Amino acid sequence: MARFATRVTSIESSPTVRLGNLVAEMRARGEEVLSLSVGEPDFPTPAHIVQAAKEALDAGLTKYTPSLGIRELREAVARKSKEENGIPATADDVLVSPTKHTLYLACMALLESGDEAILPDPGWVSYEPMVRLAGATPVAVRAADDEGFVPTPDAVAEAITPKTKVLVLNSPSNPAGSVIPRRTMEGLADLARDHDLVVVSDEIYERILYDGEHVSPAALDGMFDRTVTVNGFSKTYSMTGWRLGWAVAPKPILREMGKVQEHTVTCATSFAQKAGVAALQGPQEPVEAMVREFRARRDLICAELSKIDRADCFRPGGAFYAFPRLDVPTDSATLSERLLKEAKVAVTPGRAFGAAGEGHLRLSYAASRETIVEAVRRLGELVAGM
Ligand SMILES: Cc1ncc(COP(=O)(O)O)c(C=O)c1O
Repeated sequence: MARFATRVTSIESSPTVRLGNLVAEMRARGEEVLSLSVGEPDFPTPAHIVQAAKEALDAGLTKYTPSLGIRELREAVARKSKEENGIPATADDVLVSPTKHTLYLACMALLESGDEAILPDPGWVSYEPMVRLAGATPVAVRAADDEGFVPTPDAVAEAITPKTKVLVLNSPSNPAGSVIPRRTMEGLADLARDHDLVVVSDEIYERILYDGEHVSPAALDGMFDRTVTVNGFSKTYSMTGWRLGWAVAPKPILREMGKVQEHTVTCATSFAQKAGVAALQGPQEPVEAMVREFRARRDLICAELSKIDRADCFRPGGAFYAFPRLDVPTDSATLSERLLKEAKVAVTPGRAFGAAGEGHLRLSYAASRETIVEAVRRLGELVAGM
């Protein structure tokens, strides 16, 4: 009988990935399920990006690349970071890897037993397990309805101890679609400087923004040297299956992350990296069209949810999730289970994103307008009968 490391037995499998698998199984059995559970755009990868990958394959780019990524892509990422985000990066500060894996590399490089990492609660489902896999202790900071789903400098200050090493930020956020305002970001940066913390800034929803401005902490005064900026192609360019993203970090941090990359995945997929260059340097109209559609759906889902008396929905400023609070006499896991079984609608229970997510459901509006309207109608019908 195999005995397993507590490192893995102490974490749960990803609730969002599990739910996606369950929906796929139900559909394979012939059941019709409306899914508002997936975290990927329902648009094809733009044709010019696919074409760049095909050309790379035909040109024989099918072998290992340098571990940190091909020079052309690292340069394109550095240019984008400088021009769009104000981050003073050069190509030497860029590591290419699947986005999720860059976050894991950052955790492995920065954290160990005895360290604490501050995470937003509610927050993306993988931050906590990654911190635990690195042997460190996650510390949840409440960033719930009353704070506009943003970790306030006061709440973070209260959570800092001599063991705190990393502060994870995510704007626009998953699950609430909240956007950290500049003043708040400056307050958080002050804390990072005062307490010698490294900020891991997950900016994967950066371009899917409807209200407010996107602020990269690495662009703030003196912050570049203590920030790992994580971003990727999955959401902006509808490239979830390509497994491609990047981290921008000062060289000492990047060097340590690079060692873990060398000993785990070696490098990102060769021809996908060429597609990444085409994505960053090619026409951005497909992104703009997708974001226009997401904005219309954001307005639609908020309007539909407002028809449910027992739902109270924060208006998301970015990403493609709504995170309503439901006033029902049951927890979010039971509610989402009943919704799936009785109404054939898949959503993610708010509790999956942390204790402060309880009472909420996450509805992804990366789905057609008809699906959104019908799914929210069924949700309203279910909660009206509870
Ligand atoms: C907040 C956040 N960070 C990172 C990721 C990982 O992205 P990728 O699929 O590109 O690895 C996701 C994906 O859902 C996400 O929602």
